[in-house]
Amino acid sequence: NFINGISSFHVLESQIKERLHLEHVIIVPGNSDNQLSIKEDLGIACVQFLKGILTANQTVAITGGTTMALVAKHMKRVEHAENCTFVPARGGLGEQVENQANTICAEMAKKANGNYRMLYVPDPLSEETYYSIIEEPAIKDTLETIRKADIVLHGIGDAITMAKRRKAPERVIEKLKKEHAVSEAFGYYLDEEGEVVHKVRTVGMQLEDLTHPKYVIAIAGGKSKAKAIRSYLRQGMSNVLITDEETAEELLKG
Ligand code: BG6
Repeated sequence: NFINGISSFHVLESQIKERLHLEHVIIVPGNSDNQLSIKEDLGIACVQFLKGILTANQTVAITGGTTMALVAKHMKRVEHAENCTFVPARGGLGEQVENQANTICAEMAKKANGNYRMLYVPDPLSEETYYSIIEEPAIKDTLETIRKADIVLHGIGDAITMAKRRKAPERVIEKLKKEHAVSEAFGYYLDEEGEVVHKVRTVGMQLEDLTHPKYVIAIAGGKSKAKAIRSYLRQGMSNVLITDEETAEELLKG
């Protein structure tokens, strides 16, 4: 079903496309909750999709996460897309170094033979620091690059899992539970209806900026993420979903 990055889940893909109002859906076999190799297939499928849409001199904004790290692992040079720039979508969200957008960006750029920009922002960011940091010339420059992104690649996570992984303070975790947060993407925590219930204060792309890029690609698999994926997609900000078979089947049940 998944040979050389080509999927044959056409029926399932069109069902998901219609149900979740997406422009493109790519499905790889299996359930990435159980097997790392399936999560790798998500990365391979994403690189394959990128190859088809990327053109020279484009800007790609990316988030962090273990799934995105696997996209970087499989990234390849795209011959018709030289001189692309990879940039983190948002500043620090509390991830470990190997899962940070900065790290992943550098790897993507190296493999694609492109350029990268870093966004060095401490986190958590106090309100005071936030307003002074966005005035720093180096940060301003990167923020401008982010705003011009043609393509955004991002992960989606389960709200509480992500808050704990990022070592969010107990009061934030309590708030998320109280407000029934189920998903997290870009540092935004959303409830089942897709309403934002909490947001990590950092610079870079805000949810409303996602209307600008032509492709906003969510890469998220694992049956345990189905609820989160459904919740996040209710915002209607992403137009491409790369997921796995069992997650897709679960998404249709809801
Ligand atoms: C990151 C996003 O890319 O991936 C998060 O910034 C998301 O918003 C996370 O929740 C998911 O991580 P993982 O490790 O499950 O791919």
